[in-house]
Order: sequence, then structure tokens, then C-alpha cells
Amino acid sequence: MDYDALIRQELAPMRPYAPGLRASEVRERSGRDDVRKLSSNENPYGPMPAALAGMQAVLSRLNVYPDGSARALKCRLSERLGVAEKNLVVGNGSNELLRLIAQAVLGPGDECVFAWPSFVVYPMVCQLMGATAVKVPLSAGEAHDLGAMADAITDRTKLVFLCNPNNPTGTIYTRDEFDKFLKRVPEHVLVIVDEAYFEYVTSPENPDGLAYFDGVRPLGVLRTFSKIYSLAGARCGYGVLPEPVVSALDKIREPFNVSTIAQVGAYYSLDDDAEVRRRRDENQEQKTYLYSCFDRLGVSYVPSETNFVWIHTEKPVEVFQALLSQGVIVRDFGTTQALRVGVGTPDDTRATIAAFEAVVAKLGAL
Ligand SMILES: Cc1ncc(COP(=O)(O)O)c(C=O)c1O
Repeated sequence: MDYDALIRQELAPMRPYAPGLRASEVRERSGRDDVRKLSSNENPYGPMPAALAGMQAVLSRLNVYPDGSARALKCRLSERLGVAEKNLVVGNGSNELLRLIAQAVLGPGDECVFAWPSFVVYPMVCQLMGATAVKVPLSAGEAHDLGAMADAITDRTKLVFLCNPNNPTGTIYTRDEFDKFLKRVPEHVLVIVDEAYFEYVTSPENPDGLAYFDGVRPLGVLRTFSKIYSLAGARCGYGVLPEPVVSALDKIREPFNVSTIAQVGAYYSLDDDAEVRRRRDENQEQKTYLYSCFDRLGVSYVPSETNFVWIHTEKPVEVFQALLSQGVIVRDFGTTQALRVGVGTPDDTRATIAAFEAVVAKLGAL
């Protein structure tokens, strides 16, 4: 069998998504117990108590398929977000929604514009569809350059992904920049605002993507329960999208794409605004400790609106390994002179600071 002929040629240059190192792997390899996995932007506190109780309660009913249309969750989201249920779609993580949107919209020869570096899944879903990924470099402040992104739109552009805040740099674009950008986007382009870290943001300048959603304009917003709600392992994200896009996604998604556990966990997560605030405030405080450590050690970093910090280093591979040997797992993308350092509990922060001190003592300036 000629598998090269069998398998679609668009897949040949693609590489599987490379997840960060697992803590258990590092424990085994290093023999250390105190390993901190700060490489996947997860929340360290676990699911909200009500979500945990709800998920435990449905375990004995897993003989039944999930609700394929996620009605209860959509109803709850609709009330909470003030959007109609017909504009909601629930996915197996927002990752699935990114792929479904690409599958619904992009074909060979179409262009998809996004910032770079940004979330690694955007180029992957473009490649999957044989579409052209138009990567627009971030500005000097490592934020979206929305002016340059508007310039990059052509007659062939069908989709724009905006990652706000941006993964991996943690930066936002301002409301003013977004307003100007939207005025320049032609009507044939669908703008998708990926707000996976929305609940962590504290800047008053941040545009809430939903405030721009009217169901008519070709603009949609994606959010997830994987980050501040700490349900990454359950897989649940949602999209607020114009009705024709929701209908297209409903045609191509799997009938039971979101498990009962994920739907129930997500539903009950929405009860606990006080815990969301606590997590955001604590995350904010931990970043201030990390920044002062980086300032003291001369490590250059980008102030972040998320639960991770992008640090610059001329020797990412050595710094990554040196931090690993201190039990701290960060993310090296292998393509940039930078590393992404996750923000965890106060105890994780202390360990991260101690690790950076040891690494600077060993390697000198980073
Ligand atoms: C910017 C961004 N979008 C989407 C996702 C996907 O999240 P999930 O599929 O867990 O909802 C992530 C995960 O890291 C992300 O960083």
C-alpha cells in the first residue's frame, strides 16, 4: 500500500500537537518528588466544589449518551452571557471549536490571518484544510499588531483568529485598537476572538469580545472551562457565533462531542463567581512576585494578563533544562528566544523563584 498516496497530502508537513512534559514523566526521570508542572497554563486548584460534586453524581449514569445538544449548559450560558441559545455551540474544549470553524469555513486557496507567535492550533487547522496561514508578526511589545493584521486581509481571506489575551505572550490588544481593526475588516471575513484566558484579565483596557457580538456581524467569541475553571481534563469550551456558523458547526461536529461529565462540570462551575475572583486575584498577586524576582535577576519578561509569563532568554534550551533539573517544568516552543512560565499556587511561585535563582547562579545572565 502506498500510504503517501492514500493519506491527504495536506497532512504531510503537519506535526502532531506537542504537549508540555507531564509531571509524572519528570518525576520518574529526575527522581524528584517536588515537580511543578507550569507548562500547560492549567489552574492548580482543580474543579469548583459544586462542579466536582456534580461530576461525581453523574458517574453512575454514564451508560446513557450525553445530551448531544448540551441544552442545560447552553440555557445556563445563555442566561449568564445574555446571548440567545441559537448563537451558542459547546465543544470538546475550545480546541475542537477552532477545528470545526476551520472545517466549516476554509478550503484550499483560502487565507486565514492570525498573529504570530500565537496559539499553535491556528496554523494546524489551516494546514488541515489546505488553506494558507497568513502569520502577522506581533508588535514590538509582543502584542497583536491589529493594523498590520488588517493590512494582511485580502479578497481570499475568509477567517481571522485573534487570541486575546495572546498565548504565549500574555498580552492584550486595547478596545481602541480593536474598534479601529473592526472598522477595517471587510464583510466577507469571519473574525474569531479566542478568549481562553478572559477570566484572568484585569486590565480595564481589554475589550470583552462578547460586547461586540450582535449575531449579525461576522464575529464570534470562544471561551473555555479549561483555564480558570480548572476543567482541562474534562474538555469543555463554548462559542458564541452567528446562527449560520452555529448551524454549520452542528452539521459537522460529532453527535455527542461533549461528555456528560464535561457538561455537568461546566454547568456547575458557573455558580462560583467568588472562587473565580479569588483565583484571578491570587494569580495577579503571584505574577507580582514573579516580576520582582525577574527584575532582581535581570530576566526580561512581558507583563501578562494571563496565568503565564513570557520571558526572553538567549539560551532557551539550557534554561529550560536547568529549570527542569530544579523540578520546574516550563514551556519551550523550540522556535523562539523565549520560554513560557506558568503561574501556579503561592508554593509554586516560591519554587519557581528559587529555581530561577539557582539557574541564574549556574548559567549567569539568561
Ligand atoms: C489561546 C487558546 N485557545 C484555545 C485553547 C484550547 O483550550 P481547550 O481546548 O482546553 O478549551 C488553549 C489551550 O491552551 C489556548 O491557549
